[in-house]
Amino acid sequence: MTRLGILGGGTVGTALVRLIQDNLYDRFRVVQVGVQDLAKPRDIHESLLTTDLAGIVDNPGVDAIVEVIGGMDPAWPLIQRAAELGKPVVTANKELVARKFDSLYELDIPVLFEAAVCAGVPVIQVIETLAQTNEITRIRGVLNGTTNYMLTRMRQEGIGFSECLADAQRLGYAEADPSSDVDGWDSAYKLAILVGLATEEAPDVNTMDRVGIRDLPELKPGEIVRLVAEWTFHDGARVSPQVLGSDDPLASLEGTRNGVVIEGDYCGSLMLSGPGAGGKETASAIVGDLVQLFPA
Ligand code: NAP
Ligand code: HSE
Repeated sequence: MTRLGILGGGTVGTALVRLIQDNLYDRFRVVQVGVQDLAKPRDIHESLLTTDLAGIVDNPGVDAIVEVIGGMDPAWPLIQRAAELGKPVVTANKELVARKFDSLYELDIPVLFEAAVCAGVPVIQVIETLAQTNEITRIRGVLNGTTNYMLTRMRQEGIGFSECLADAQRLGYAEADPSSDVDGWDSAYKLAILVGLATEEAPDVNTMDRVGIRDLPELKPGEIVRLVAEWTFHDGARVSPQVLGSDDPLASLEGTRNGVVIEGDYCGSLMLSGPGAGGKETASAIVGDLVQLFPA
């Protein structure tokens, strides 16, 4: 039985506790869940909750840490502490993985992050494998569920930006600060991670060309716009809204669906797609990392 400390009990943390209790109760036990506000209503038994996140990491009764707080602080110092104690970490925090890409590999513990890119779609595993066997030449995808959900509803239902964003927040798709979604940061973090895995060098997200969806011009009837994250060896990485032809593989991605096309010199062009945001989908990917770390 592996004993887990979960840092964060929001959309993802709550779904994760539920998934483990429903499907993996014979392999994993949630010992503690760290949150900020004990009074906030949430679907996690109160006996598991604490605001002492450092205490969770230090708890000798915790074997491994799942970080689903988001952002850099306190997530990064807590992961560093887990490394000092030799406790493996699973994280869904794409900002942290993108910004600390090299540092994570210098820690003396495994840090797995399948859930950080495209939530439930196992794109990290695939790109890690392809990077060992191919020269990856191009990565192009819709990597953010919130903006794709918004663009889909704005187009199909004619609903405004603010109303769509409020719905995405209510449904648990958006980041705690949703400007990360709508200004393209979240896509930039995810693209940086994929490029880092493909080339062993993650681009600097602060200098990446990045345009979000706040200032889109009026759409013409039938026009399909997607927030596209793309990288090629020669042109580098960028995030921008693009009008897509109906034959573009990314044009058919509706709602929170994400998709990424990966091109390599031997594998050719392949596409992965699936749910890109949501508590359950993200929890599924986190548990995928946990069962890899702790096989039955
Ligand atoms: P969330 O709903 O905002 O939950 C964050 C949790 O962290 C909350 O329980 C919050 O406590 C806790 N927290 C935040 N700051 C804290 C602090 N300083 N001290 C203690 N606890 C703190 O976020 P989420 O949607 O679950 O996302 C978590 C992570 O997963 C993020 O890195 C996000 O990018 C990533 N992710 C999310 C999705 C998704 O669809 N939501 C998908 C893939 C990856 P309170 O509840 O008390 O406020
Ligand atoms: N806010 C993110 C998104 C969550 O909408 O894609 C999944 O990473």
